[in-house]
Amino acid sequence: MRSHYCGDVNEKLDGQTVTVAGWMHRRRDHGGVIFIDLRDREGLVQIVCNPEDAESFAIAERVRSEYVLEIEGKVRLRPDGSDNKGLKSGKIEIVATRVTILNVAETPPFPLTEQAEVSEDVRLRHRYIDLRRPEMQQKLRFRAKITSYLRRFLDDNGFLDIETPILTKATPEGARDYLVPSRTHQGDFFALPQSPQLFKQLLMVAGMDRYYQIVRCFRDEDLRADRQPEFTQVDVETSFMEEEDLMNMMEDMIRGLFANVLEQPLPNPFPRMTYAEAMARYGSDKPDLRIDLELIEISDLMKSVDFKVFSGPANDEKGRVVALRVPKGASLSRKQIDDYTKYVSIYGAKGLAYIKVNDINAGREGLQSPILKFLPDDVVDAIMKRTEAETGDLIFFGADKSNIVNESIGALRVKVGHDLDLVKHGWQPLWVVAFPMFEWDEKSDRWTALHHPFTAPRESDMDLLETDPGKCLSRAYDMVLNGTELGGGSMRIHKADIQSKVFELLGISKEEADDKFGFLLEALKFGCPPHGGLAFGLDRLAMLMTGSASIRDVMAFPKTQSASCLLTDAPSNVSEAQLKELNIRLRKPAVIADSSPE
Ligand code: AMO
Ligand code: AMP
Repeated sequence: MRSHYCGDVNEKLDGQTVTVAGWMHRRRDHGGVIFIDLRDREGLVQIVCNPEDAESFAIAERVRSEYVLEIEGKVRLRPDGSDNKGLKSGKIEIVATRVTILNVAETPPFPLTEQAEVSEDVRLRHRYIDLRRPEMQQKLRFRAKITSYLRRFLDDNGFLDIETPILTKATPEGARDYLVPSRTHQGDFFALPQSPQLFKQLLMVAGMDRYYQIVRCFRDEDLRADRQPEFTQVDVETSFMEEEDLMNMMEDMIRGLFANVLEQPLPNPFPRMTYAEAMARYGSDKPDLRIDLELIEISDLMKSVDFKVFSGPANDEKGRVVALRVPKGASLSRKQIDDYTKYVSIYGAKGLAYIKVNDINAGREGLQSPILKFLPDDVVDAIMKRTEAETGDLIFFGADKSNIVNESIGALRVKVGHDLDLVKHGWQPLWVVAFPMFEWDEKSDRWTALHHPFTAPRESDMDLLETDPGKCLSRAYDMVLNGTELGGGSMRIHKADIQSKVFELLGISKEEADDKFGFLLEALKFGCPPHGGLAFGLDRLAMLMTGSASIRDVMAFPKTQSASCLLTDAPSNVSEAQLKELNIRLRKPAVIADSSPE
C-alpha cells in the first residue's frame, strides 16, 4: 500500500514516484493549487494537488481534517526559498498523481494542528486521537526505546524473562488489593498482584537464578501525578548475589540507558546515603539533590528556651527542631510567608516561624522575626552560625514530632527550591540505603514493614529483632532520581524461621501467616538460596526521561485521578446475570470518602 513513511520522504528521492499513506493534517487552498500536509508516525510531508490532474484535484477538494488518505505522486524539490526547516521532509514536496480516500473522519474533538489548550479529560476520552499528536507519539516511542534497551541489557546479563500470574493471592506492598471474584469457588476472590514479589522469590527457590519481567502491577491507592492504579515495573530478582554486586549492575543498567537512549551521562558511581542521613538533612527518603537547601538540626539549642513551641519538641525523644536557611529569602513578602505557612499545614505543621536576616553584622537589630523575643542572645548567635546565615537570607523553623517536621519542612524545601529557582539542571541519582526494618504505626499501635515483610534484616542486626526491632536495619535499597523514587528492592529473608519471626513482629499471627503466606514459608524450607532483587517503576522512569509532568503522559491508556478510564468507561456495572453466576448481591453503594488504606 505504501512505499515510504511520510516523514521519511526526502531530497534523495527527488524525481521518484512514491506512495504514502496517513492522516490529513492540514489543507491550504492557494489560488487553485491545493496543498495537503499528510501525517503519519514518522512526520509530515507536503502534497501538491494541481487542477490539471482533475480527478486527484476533485478528491483533494473534498478531504477534511483527519481523513485517511493514500497518495501516489512524484517527489520534487521545493522551489527556492520555500523550504520548511522545521520538517524532516521540508526540502521536498510530492506532486500527487493519485489521491485515494481510505476513510473519512468526523471533525476531531480538538485540533491536532496547534498546541490548543485541551482539558485532560477530553484528551483521555478520545485518547486514540490525542495519541496522534507528535508529542504523544514521541513519548510512546521513547518508552518503547527504554524497554527495548532494558530488555537487551537484562538478556545480555543472563536474566530470564518469566511471566507470573495476574490472577493470584494478595502480595502486601502497602496498598489495597484489586479483587476478582471467582465463579468456580464461590465466595472466594483472586487478588491482582501489587507486584510479583512472592512469585519471583519462588522462581529463585526454583533455581532460575536470574529473573526479570516487565510487568503490570495493580494497587488501589490514592493517586498522584506519579502514581497509577495499574502501572509497570521492571522487576528483577537474582540468587547468590550480594547487594553490592546487584546495586552496581542495576546502576550500570540505568547509566547505560541514559547514555544510549538520552545521550546524557549520569555520575559513576551514584552517591549513597543512609536513610538516617537523608531524613536528617532533607526530611525525605527520596531527596532531590538538585536543590542545595538542607534541614539543619537545632534541637540541642532549643532545649532550655522559654518558647514552648520549640523547647517541647527539643526535649521530646520523638521530636525535632530544624532550621531551613533560604538564601536571599529576606525579600519574601508577608503574603508569601503566609502562603508557605498554609502549605506546611497540609503536612500537619502547626506554624512556620522565621527570622529575616536584614544585616548579619548588626546583632539582634539586624534580625526581624516574631519569635526573636523568645530567644536569648547566645541561642540566636548559635543559630546564625550553624545555618551560616548571611545578610538577605531568611531562616524558616519547624518544631514538632520528627515525622511532621520531616514531612512539612522536607516538602517546604522542595517547594521553596522550585519557587526561587534554586533547582540545578541535570540528573541527580542516588541510592538510599540502611533503611530501618520497621516503623511504629501509632494508629494501629504496632510495627509495620518499611519496605515489605520479605526484606532481610542486616546480618549484624539479627539480635535486634528480639531486643529492639525499631533499631534493626534492613538490607533494602532505593534508587532515587531528582527527588523521585525510581526503584527499590532488597536482599530477602531466605530462612523460614526468620521469616516467621518477622511476621510475628508485624503482628501477623501464625494462623494468618500460614493462611496468607504458607506457600512461601514452606518453599523457604526446601533449599531456598540467598536471593534479592529490585523493581523499577517504568512509568516514572519514562516520565523523568521525557520531562513529562505526569506518568499519565507516558502511558497509552492511563486512568484518571479517581481510577477510572474515560475512554472505555471502566469500571462499569455488570449484568444481573453475571452477578448471579458469581453469587454476588450488591449492597447500596457506600459513599467513599478516602481511598487510602488505613
Ligand atoms: P515498590 O513498592 O517500591 O517495590 O515498587 C517499585 C517501584 O514501582 C514504582 N511504583 C509505582 N509507579 C506508578 N504508580 C504506582 N502506584 C506505583 N507504585 C510503585 C516506583 C517504585 O519505586 N516488590 C517490590 C520490589 C522489590 O522488593 O524487588 C516493590 O514492588 O517507582
Ligand atoms: P505563636 O506563639 O503560636 O503565635 O507562634 C509564634 C510563631 O511560631 C509563628 O510565626 C508561628 O508560625 C510559629 N510556630 C508555631 N508553631 C510552630 C511549629 N510547630 N513549628 C514552627 N513554627 C511554629
